Amino acid sequence: MSARPDDGVGAAPEQAPEGPETVGDTRGHPPGGGSREVGTSISLTLRIRRYNPEVGDQPWWGEYTIEAEPTDRLLDALHHVKWYRDGTLALRRSCAHGICGSDAMLINGRNALACKVLVKEVAPKVTVEPIRGLPVLKDLIVDMEPFFAGYRKVLPFLVNEDDPPDRERLQSPEERERFDDTTKCILCAACTTSCPIFWGDGDYIGPAAIVNAHRFIFDSRDQAAKERLDILAEKSGVFRCRTTFNCTEACPRGIKVTKAIQEVKRAIMFDKL
Ligand code: SF4
Ligand code: F3S
Ligand code: FES
Repeated sequence: MSARPDDGVGAAPEQAPEGPETVGDTRGHPPGGGSREVGTSISLTLRIRRYNPEVGDQPWWGEYTIEAEPTDRLLDALHHVKWYRDGTLALRRSCAHGICGSDAMLINGRNALACKVLVKEVAPKVTVEPIRGLPVLKDLIVDMEPFFAGYRKVLPFLVNEDDPPDRERLQSPEERERFDDTTKCILCAACTTSCPIFWGDGDYIGPAAIVNAHRFIFDSRDQAAKERLDILAEKSGVFRCRTTFNCTEACPRGIKVTKAIQEVKRAIMFDKL
């Protein structure tokens, strides 16, 4: 597996021939479905950081100009490039609606979900790169394993050794509110891969893992808060955070990530939930 080569960007290796010039269906339908008529299309140039270890060890910039509807998503535009310009372009996506968290990428220097960015917000030119701090496997695809290793470490599931009650484990609205914000996480990694501490120190567990620990630490039905707080008090845990706020700015779900981290820090320092 190759770490992301960051030094210099080489010339483009030989690429697949360009496809048809007409605007195809960029709404998540595979090629072959026919082109559609467009009346208000605009031009968008995508400058995409490409990397393919089977071709060479240096990344390069691929540049593609397409026509797209202003209200198309950037993900649609990337699909168009892949399906009609260069089939070797590699990216992850699934839901196309901001739910699965699989298409986080660096868009004009900021982490965002490609399916939540409109073409008109970035036209006429947009730069797209893989998220930072994780090894790049190919083009926009990174190895998420170090990210999920941190997530697994904080026991991201409800722990309760009591016998199950006859009904649900009840909770007051106030008790639920305590961790409501952190239930919204979709594990996109936009926060962790925007954190300078994570870039510089792969051991840092990262904001996403802390958010998911927070979700259970402050859940009145859970019984493993102490275990999680002990894990997060370790060298790789919450005290690595320098309150930079990049994570909060990057979160596509609007989670107050830094606030959640501060709450976990306080719980450790004052031994109080
Ligand atoms: Fe993504 Fe936000 Fe969860 Fe971080 S906290 S993984 S940015 S949804
Ligand atoms: Fe990093 Fe967020 Fe802390 S960006 S330093 S985890 S506030
Ligand atoms: Fe699922 Fe964007 S493709 S969040």
